Amino acid sequence: EDLGVVAVGFSGGQGKPGVDAAPTALIESGLLTQLRDDLGYTLHGHDDVHFYSDLAPAQDPPHRGMKNPRAVSAVTRKIAEQVYAQAREGRLVLTLGGDHSIAIGTIAGSAKAVRERLGREMAVIWVDAHADINTPETSGSGNVHGMPVAFLTGLAREEKDEFFGWLKDEHRISVKKLVYIGLRDVDAGEKRILRENGIKAFSMFDIDRHGIGRVMEMALAHIGSDTPIHLSFDVDALDPMWAPSTGTPVRGGLTLREGDFICEYVHQTGSLVAVDLVEVNPTLAPETDLGAHETVRAGCSIVRCALGESLL
Ligand code: ARG
Ligand code: MN
Ligand code: MN
Ligand code: MN
Repeated sequence: EDLGVVAVGFSGGQGKPGVDAAPTALIESGLLTQLRDDLGYTLHGHDDVHFYSDLAPAQDPPHRGMKNPRAVSAVTRKIAEQVYAQAREGRLVLTLGGDHSIAIGTIAGSAKAVRERLGREMAVIWVDAHADINTPETSGSGNVHGMPVAFLTGLAREEKDEFFGWLKDEHRISVKKLVYIGLRDVDAGEKRILRENGIKAFSMFDIDRHGIGRVMEMALAHIGSDTPIHLSFDVDALDPMWAPSTGTPVRGGLTLREGDFICEYVHQTGSLVAVDLVEVNPTLAPETDLGAHETVRAGCSIVRCALGESLL
C-alpha cells in the first residue's frame, strides 16, 4: 500500500521551541523504516523534513489576538497543498508534526481530496486532552494550536488570505462529522462552543465510565459507516506517564494501550485516509531525556497502530 509522508518541523502555533524537532526524532528512532520494512508500505514524499522558515515574515504582529498569524497561515496553507497532492493520488497520508496548528493544513488538504476523489464529506476523529476549538476571540493564550478546529469547521473565519482566508468550503469539515476522544482540559468558551454546536465528545469521564472499546463503538456509530476518516492524534491525549515530553501535558489521560487501541480500531474500519501525530516535543521532558525518549517511543507506537500493526 502507498503512504504519503509529510514531515513538518513547525512550532509557531504555540510558544515553546522544540516541537519542531519531533519529525526528525521520530524518523531517527526508526519509524519510517518500520512502516516500510515491517508494515510493507511504499513511502512517498518522505525524503525531507520541512521547516518552512522562509515562510515566516520578519514582522508578524498579532491579529485578533492570534500569535504568529501570518507564519501559521502560510505554513498550514503549504501543508494543505502537500497533503492534498499525496491524497489526490489515493494514498493514505501520514503527517508528523509539529504543533497541532498544522492540522489546519492536513485536514484542509485531505478534506479537499476526499471531496474530489470520493464525492464524500470526511469525518475527523480528534484525540486530545484539549478541544483546540477556541476562536481567536475565546482564546486566552492567542496560540493558534488551540484554534485549528474552529477554523476547519468555519466557526472562526477570516477574509484575508494571509490570515487563513485561503480556507474555502472545500477544505472544511462539518461539526456533525467531528468526534473528540480523551478530553480533560477544555476552556470555558470551548465548552460553550461544543454545547451550542452539538459536537460529539468523549471525555476521560466517558472512557472511565464505558471503557475505550464501547467509546470507540459509539464514536464510529456517530460518524456512520463507510465515511472516510482523518485521525488527528495529539500525543498529550496520552497520560504524561507515557508522554511527558509535550508542551501542554495534562494528568489523568489515556494509557498508551488505550491510545494504541483507538488507532487499531480506526485502522480496522478500513476508512482511514489520513493520520496526524503532533505535539511531541523531544526537548521538554523534565530532568532526564528519558522522558523524551519515552514520548518519541509512544508516538511511534501510535502511528504504527494507526497504520495497521499488530492486527491479525
Ligand atoms: N486551550 C488552550 C489554548 O487555547 C490549550 C491548547 C492546547 N493545544 C494543544 N494542541 N496542545 O491555548
Ligand atoms: Mn492537546
Ligand atoms: Mn491538540
Ligand atoms: Mn490493514
